[in-house]
Amino acid sequence: MSGIVVLISGRGSNLAALCNNLDLVKHIKGVICNNVDAPGLSIAKKFGIPSHIIQHKQYLTREEFDKHMAQIIDGYNPRYVILAGFMRILSPWFVNRYHMRLVNIHPSLLPSFIGINAIDQAFAAKVKVSGLTIHFVTDKLDHGPIIAQGVVSNKSSTLEELADKIHTLEHVAYPFIVSKLLSNKVNILDDETIVVEKDKDDIQLLGKFYNSLFY
Ligand code: GAR
Repeated sequence: MSGIVVLISGRGSNLAALCNNLDLVKHIKGVICNNVDAPGLSIAKKFGIPSHIIQHKQYLTREEFDKHMAQIIDGYNPRYVILAGFMRILSPWFVNRYHMRLVNIHPSLLPSFIGINAIDQAFAAKVKVSGLTIHFVTDKLDHGPIIAQGVVSNKSSTLEELADKIHTLEHVAYPFIVSKLLSNKVNILDDETIVVEKDKDDIQLLGKFYNSLFY
């Protein structure tokens, strides 16, 4: 097993961030998308990464759809399956198949604000801080062992400013953590406790975001 397969549904800005990382892009074996109109598909094309459109509407059950995705994923024999704005609930069958190999990024400090429109939910709740969570996926929606969390201030932000701050941090944090996964720096102590090894060049890699990312 080596490399990653990335699953997307929409814009694909996190996929772009992974692709723009020179050390990571060579590890992206394939992209799967469940939405034929997703702008993110053009990013895969631009970087010459094979992409597959699997439209969930064409399957009678969630598991049938997931089994078809798994067939394609397994053809690449990836070490990790990376969810980057993949907006479908995955079946327990799929989640178990990729136990501790399935990683998600969510735009809130989990377990707060699960589900869709997490940034709007946090803004409406008038929280003072929000952020992002990178975690292994379990069959409970937007839960699972936390690998890293990034924090942004919501003080005197508009909704658009908050969204912008979270997305900017996502685009630094996700490539950083996926690199840590691929370089064996993410240790699973038990099914709930994840410890990420620090490196001396982390400060340089994260730059001004170093103090915003907790891992
Ligand atoms: C990202 O903000 C990601 O955290 C979120 O979808 C967005 C996808 O943007 N994921 C979820 O809400 C998962 N529950 P992108 O397509 O531009 O990468």
